[in-house]
Amino acid sequence: MSLEDEFGFPVKCISEGHVKILVPQGVGEVDPSSLPVFYNPASKISRDLAVLAVEGYFAGKTGLSMCEPLAGCGVRTIRIMLESGVIERAVAGDINKNAAKLISANAAINGLSERVKALHIDANLLLARMHAEHERVDYVDIDPAGSPARFLENACRATSKNGLLGASATDLAALSGASASTALWRYSIHLAKTVFLKEVAARSLAGFIVMSASRLGLAARPVLTVVHRHFIRVFASLERGKSRALEASSGIGYLVHCRACLSTRKAAFPALIDSKCHECGGQLVVLGPLWLGVLNDEAVLDRILKSRKIDDPTYGDAYKILRGIAGEIQDIPYYYPVAELARRAKTSPPKVSRLVEKLRELGYKASTTHHDYSAIKTDAPPKSLVELVKDAAA
Ligand SMILES: C[S@@+](CC[C@H](N)C(=O)[O-])C[C@H]1O[C@@H](n2cnc3c(N)ncnc32)[C@H](O)[C@@H]1O
Repeated sequence: MSLEDEFGFPVKCISEGHVKILVPQGVGEVDPSSLPVFYNPASKISRDLAVLAVEGYFAGKTGLSMCEPLAGCGVRTIRIMLESGVIERAVAGDINKNAAKLISANAAINGLSERVKALHIDANLLLARMHAEHERVDYVDIDPAGSPARFLENACRATSKNGLLGASATDLAALSGASASTALWRYSIHLAKTVFLKEVAARSLAGFIVMSASRLGLAARPVLTVVHRHFIRVFASLERGKSRALEASSGIGYLVHCRACLSTRKAAFPALIDSKCHECGGQLVVLGPLWLGVLNDEAVLDRILKSRKIDDPTYGDAYKILRGIAGEIQDIPYYYPVAELARRAKTSPPKVSRLVEKLRELGYKASTTHHDYSAIKTDAPPKSLVELVKDAAA
C-alpha cells in the first residue's frame, strides 16, 4: 500500500530540527489550515523555543511526561522528546482524524512508537480526562491556530505539580489592544491601543494564564515569554496551593497610560484611577488586568543560554531572541519606539544604542527590547526622553 493510500492524501518526508517527519504535500504552497493535516514551517522557531524551554526548565531531569493536545502532525512533540532528552512519554492528540494517523506514523519513523500515544480527540476532553483520571503530565503544550483561551483552564488541570505549561497565541490583534472589543469578550481584559503593543500582548496572555490557574488554586509564574512575528509564547511554571495562588495573583494589575504624553504607571485597582493624566492633563486609558511581574525567570534563561545547543545552528534564530530577552529590563512593563519620540521631538531618530547609553549615564535604567529593536525600555519620564532625543539631534 502506498503512503497516499494509507493516509488518504499525498505526503512527503521533510527534516525539521533534528527529526524527519511526514507532512502533507502542498506545505509551503497553501495556507497550513487548508492542508489535510496542519503543518506550518514558519512555526519552526516556536518549536525550537519549546525544546529549549523544556530543557532549561527541567534542567537535567529525565523520564518525564508531556501532552500536546493540538498536535497537528506531531512534529513539536517528537522534537521535544528527541531534542530535549527530558521527556520519556507523550500523549499527542488532535481533533482531526488524519492528524492522529500522521502522528503515529511520525512517531514510528523516529523510533518513538512505544513512547507516543496518538489520539483523535478534542483537546479539552483529553485534558479534563487526564485530570480526572490522575494522569497529569510534567509538560503541557497548547498550540492552537488563534487563541488558547478556551484550553488554558484544562491545561492547568492536566499539568503536574511543579510542571510547565507552554501556550501560544496568534490572535495578536486582540491581545495587544489593537482590537479592544475582542480582548474584552475573549479574555475579559480591557485594552486600548498604545505605542507598546507587543508588551501589552505578552502581559495580557501571561496574566490570563495566571488568572486561569488561580481560579483552580494553582500558582502560575511566567518563566519565559516571547513575542515573535505572528505569535506570542508564554511558558509558565505551575505550583499547587491557595497561598501560592494568592501570591502569584499579586503580580496581576493595571497599567494607566496617557496617549497624549506617553506616561505610564502601574496601578493595583482601576477604580482608584483619575481619568486625567497628572503630567499633562490628557485623557488616560486603563489596561488590564495584566501580568505586571517578571516575564522571564533569570535562572531558566541562564541555563538555556549556557546549553550546548547555543552552538547548534538549528537554534540560531531562537538564541538571537533569547539573547535579546536576556538584555532586557524586566521590571518596566512598557517601551517607547524611538521613532515616536523623534516624531514628538520633531527630529530624526537617534541611534537606539546611543540613547540607551546616554540614559544610563544620566542614572536611568535603560535597555533595548526583543519586542522592537528600534524601541527602548526606560524609567526616564517621557518628557525628558523627548528632550533628550531633541538634544541628540542638535
Ligand atoms: C496550530 S495547529 C498545531 C500545530 C502543532 N502544534 C505544531 O507545532 O506543528 C492547531 C491544531 O489544533 C487542532 N485543533 C483545533 N481545534 C481542536 C480541538 N478542539 N481539539 C483538538 N485539536 C484541535 C487542529 O486540527 C490543528 O491541527
